[in-house]
Amino acid sequence: RTVYVNGSYLPEEDAKVSVFDRGFLFADGVYEVSTVLEGRLIDNQAHLVRLQRSLDELQMTSPVSMDDIVTIQNELIKQNGLKEGGLYLQITRGAADRDFAFPKDATPSLVMFTQEKNLLNSPAAERGLSVISVPDIRWQRRDIKTVGLLAPALAKQAAVVAGADDAWMYEDGFVTEGSSNNAYIISKEGKIITRHLGNEILHGITRRAVLSLANEADMEVEERPFTLDEVRNAAEAFVTSATTFVTPVVSFDGEKIGDGKPGALTKRLRQLYIEQAL
Ligand code: PDD
Repeated sequence: RTVYVNGSYLPEEDAKVSVFDRGFLFADGVYEVSTVLEGRLIDNQAHLVRLQRSLDELQMTSPVSMDDIVTIQNELIKQNGLKEGGLYLQITRGAADRDFAFPKDATPSLVMFTQEKNLLNSPAAERGLSVISVPDIRWQRRDIKTVGLLAPALAKQAAVVAGADDAWMYEDGFVTEGSSNNAYIISKEGKIITRHLGNEILHGITRRAVLSLANEADMEVEERPFTLDEVRNAAEAFVTSATTFVTPVVSFDGEKIGDGKPGALTKRLRQLYIEQAL
């Protein structure tokens, strides 16, 4: 596999970043994961707008223009012959002698790699996910997509140890989001409920697309926090992210949601999302 690192396309085993890179030492960096279907990037412009916002919030700059990022993304997709999967992009503040304050003269670092994956025909989407709840121990700026992902890694690992697929994080009794996705329930009245945007969650690109499709399809949407009890009593539940689209959740803390099978509205939303992406 060819990866991109600071101006060069290299075999992954030859790609190098400094030991002093602040991404490595301080998690001082931001990232994006875009989807590739049929060799094309999906909703990439929205990902780049969010990338720029993450950079701005951390007073960081990209080493190349957003237009150049797109050129590099497409070149990497071409060099790897990627048809379906994810494209990971990371910008860090660069390498400098270890000091908490920002270095004055560090050059930001840009790294990209591709990951081939079956996204359209996903067994998880057919089966539905089992999810456990874990306290949300992340910092208070989850709207910034930083590479500081230890809390979600712990959450996901807790799920694996419990024999589940994923974890939903909660705070003050309300679900914030999944370890790497946005979380939704559908009430018995057929209302789609997902947390409103704020600093408590990542502003998902897939979330935006799915909510807009739900509105067009005249489905009722309510953007507000929902409780763990509401999840237990929900008719359906699902998650969204660039790499999982809309994926049903069929059990929560060991109890079935609805009849324990992927719900009808969830399946319809997945279908609608995939149709407009292709
Ligand atoms: N994760 N919430 C969190 C905490 C996330 O990490 C992600 C994405 C999302 C969904 O955002 P989007 O729809 O823009 O992918 C929500 C990516 C896929 C990851 O870290 O691999």
